[in-house]
Amino acid sequence: MAIQGVLRPGHAQIRVLNLEQGVHFYRDVLGLLETGRDDQGRVYFKAWDEQDHNSVVIREADRAGIDFFAFKVLDNDTLLHFERALNDYGLETSRMPAGEMLETGERVRFTLPTGHLIELYADKTWVGNDSAELNPAPWNANAEKGIAPIRMDHCLLYGPDTAAAKKILIEVLGFQLVERTLTPDREGEIALWLSCSNKAHDIAFVEHSEPGKLHHVAFQLESWEKVLRAADIMAMNDVPVDIGPTRHGITRGCTIYAWDPSGNRFETFMGGYQTYPDHKPITWTFEGLGEGGGLDYAHRKLHDTFLTVVT
Ligand SMILES: [Fe+2]
Repeated sequence: MAIQGVLRPGHAQIRVLNLEQGVHFYRDVLGLLETGRDDQGRVYFKAWDEQDHNSVVIREADRAGIDFFAFKVLDNDTLLHFERALNDYGLETSRMPAGEMLETGERVRFTLPTGHLIELYADKTWVGNDSAELNPAPWNANAEKGIAPIRMDHCLLYGPDTAAAKKILIEVLGFQLVERTLTPDREGEIALWLSCSNKAHDIAFVEHSEPGKLHHVAFQLESWEKVLRAADIMAMNDVPVDIGPTRHGITRGCTIYAWDPSGNRFETFMGGYQTYPDHKPITWTFEGLGEGGGLDYAHRKLHDTFLTVVT
């Protein structure tokens, strides 16, 4: 087994201003499958091709944003290993009991210096993707409802001291730096793309004065044609689009940024290259992020909203 330790992004809990409006958007427009509701009033979803019970949880609140972002780890020994490693590094952790989230085992929580609550867990109930386990078809009817991404893929978070967050993810949790953008004076890093797998990124950060901010949670599609279909579905449903359809120079993903009804940005994208532990990080200058096409390779400009609009 090659991928061990932190396996992948597991779940994101997103705050929405109106629950039923949020359910309509995430279920009927984005096309996630509703998998449950709990006694705290939270609604759980998964993408059609995901195997575990949930990957997106929404709850109603007075302000939009993200409560926490979680990674699934290999097993309970790995969870204990990372809990101890975080403590040895000097970070406080706490445990959320099994069942506090539907169909989810114990979670280890800690706060990054950027102000984001991150969780690790080993167990979430396997529910499958409604395809046969023997000789399965490549897709099923769930793949056609709404935008219908195959998975919740990564997030981009905004907060202070991203350098310290990078150090924790790399030195304690085994992530690798895949791409970075330098500050205008080229003395530091304004943005970071990190991977726990061989995806171009599993989490990204932009340096920002306010802690704990969400730029976007991203959902993966299988083809450019499906990204264009997503744009059609957004237009049909009056979803406000931020950027795209276009391609990022950074990660090479082909993308649309848009906003849910509460103002949380989300991304639907396809592509991106594969990275391996022996690859060197790619560096972009601040000008490269904008005029160099790092953000938007087709239009080669830094959209104002990229650095200013977060929840
Ligand atoms: Fe993204």
